[in-house]
Amino acid sequence: MARTIEEVRRAVGAARREGRVVGLVPTLGALHAGHFSLIERAREECGLVVVSIFVNPTQFGPDEDFERYPRPFEKDVAGCEGHGVDAVFAPEAAEMYPEGFCTEVQVKGLGSVLEGEFRPAHFAGVCTVVLKLLQIVQPEVAYFGEKDYQQLVILEQMVRDLNVPVRIVGCATVREQDGMALSSRNAYLSAEERARGLAIAHGLRAAEAAWKSGERRAETLCALVRQELQGAELEIDYVAAAEPETLKPVEGACGKCVLLVAGRAGRTRLLDNVILSPEV
Ligand code: PAJ
Repeated sequence: MARTIEEVRRAVGAARREGRVVGLVPTLGALHAGHFSLIERAREECGLVVVSIFVNPTQFGPDEDFERYPRPFEKDVAGCEGHGVDAVFAPEAAEMYPEGFCTEVQVKGLGSVLEGEFRPAHFAGVCTVVLKLLQIVQPEVAYFGEKDYQQLVILEQMVRDLNVPVRIVGCATVREQDGMALSSRNAYLSAEERARGLAIAHGLRAAEAAWKSGERRAETLCALVRQELQGAELEIDYVAAAEPETLKPVEGACGKCVLLVAGRAGRTRLLDNVILSPEV
């Protein structure tokens, strides 16, 4: 396990000299089957798999859950070992943000819509830490989940704009048997809150079923999601239909779109989405 930038660079450098392809899976820890699906994909495609575990303070707002974010560190490290991870990079905040640190990476436009409206500094924090991780590890491939769809699109934009020599791979959302998207934050939910939160997945599933039966109007698809959410006693922040690559709002009939939902059950923020394309 590497605590410092120097240590992880040493581990990666040795593998690279052997000609191994390096894959990076950035995480906040509290690993679950969603994270492990990214790790498994990296394991299949790369000769050296690095997982970063870092609860990045700069992507949490002042009233958010940074302090109470789950940190089952030993269990995470054991999980990584069990999944054949070669190196875990788990820096302290001071290693990533030493005194005097003053740079921030912002993806304009994309970073201020949807989640960005509710979490204004969030994506600048994500982009800055991910760019740092990419610079530190210099992987050929980096793996991210479609679960955080906007994050994935923003990071793809960032590496394109800044010519970062990495391939970003998006991985499908892993769900519980009942459809609930796995998230480290689900641990905060009471049984009753979880039951209410499940309405989001049900709504998206209803919209997907309508899409499969030929419904193409964005408004109708969003209305189907909202219908499931009614009565669930969730605070809904948005239900939106957007173009998959640009996240521009979609109106009327669409050939391809992503439906994005964010809401809160109690104090816990829940995010989910479904990608609707001709192949679905
Ligand atoms: P975290 O929430 O720990 O997620 C790490 C990665 O796992 C992200 O790419 C996320 O989209 C993916 N993931 C989470 N739940 C998933 C699920 N149910 N199915 C598939 N993939 C899932 O996202 C972050 O951390 C941070 O913002 C980070 C990118 C590490 C930057 O700090």
